[in-house]
Amino acid sequence: MTRRDFIDVSDYTTEDIRGMIDEAIAIKARPAEYAKRLEGQALALIFEKPSLRTRVSFDVGIHQLGGFSVYLAPTDINLGVRESIPDVAKNLDRMVQGLMVRTFSHQIALDLAEHSEIPVINGLTDFSHPCQAMADYMTMLEKKGRLEGLKMSYVGDGNNLAHSLIHGGVRLGCHVRMATPEGYEPDAEVLEWAEAESKATGAKVEITNDPVVAVKNADVVYTDVWASMGQEIEAQARREIFQPYQVDSDLMAHAASDAIFIHCLPAYREEEVTAEVIDSEQSVVFDQAENRLHAQKAIMIRLME
Ligand code: CP
Ligand code: NVA
Repeated sequence: MTRRDFIDVSDYTTEDIRGMIDEAIAIKARPAEYAKRLEGQALALIFEKPSLRTRVSFDVGIHQLGGFSVYLAPTDINLGVRESIPDVAKNLDRMVQGLMVRTFSHQIALDLAEHSEIPVINGLTDFSHPCQAMADYMTMLEKKGRLEGLKMSYVGDGNNLAHSLIHGGVRLGCHVRMATPEGYEPDAEVLEWAEAESKATGAKVEITNDPVVAVKNADVVYTDVWASMGQEIEAQARREIFQPYQVDSDLMAHAASDAIFIHCLPAYREEEVTAEVIDSEQSVVFDQAENRLHAQKAIMIRLME
């Protein structure tokens, strides 16, 4: 293992990532064997944004490993206002064995990691959503039987999720094609990282503004909300800009005939995806959501054991 925080998928080697995904699959198959792996350990959950899946999967996940969680709502800590980030980190260090944080600025997650000795897990920042990407690649492996060379298309906003999908896709040797409106591409630093790192695994990352080009013959079609948490004020403008990027049956028809549709959820039907697609046989979004639980149990074991 190259480091003991889980801030970004890019911080880990291909072997580490694949190892955690394989372990997640084993945990899913035989959960009872893992029931005492983190016995008595406490995981603090800091949330500055809403959550359904992340909160429930970490809470249930640590419990299923023999530990327990301490939930801290946005108003409980008031990070950086009521108390400085280093002081929050140094206090939690003395009381819990792990820390998951969902916050706005990515720097807050990095600062918590820097100032604490316990493992810090990124449960989503404005920059990335690494736990989601781990569950997503686990789902793709389960459904498609391979990751190397897998054609994974993402249509929509070049956001936090897009960044983590690029990180994971590069490490796992996937062929990642993304279509975003002009001006909404993933961050240049992520694309530069992908360019430098993809040779090692044979991965390919291609960015286009044309959704049909991105989806052509895809094994997996992925989309996410058009306005992420914290961008509510832009939601109306984004609805118009992103309309041509809606994943509907016409767009899905360009993918491979056995393509799966995935979405990290929450989803807005008739915005980024039509009900017809997300509620179709091709959609595996609830299997994907379940895999958050198993993937994060594997992550917690590797970090906290
Ligand atoms: N996909 C995801 O992270 O869901 P929540 O925002 O509900 O945690
Ligand atoms: N990009 C979305 C993901 C939600 C799980 C957001 O940040 O709101």
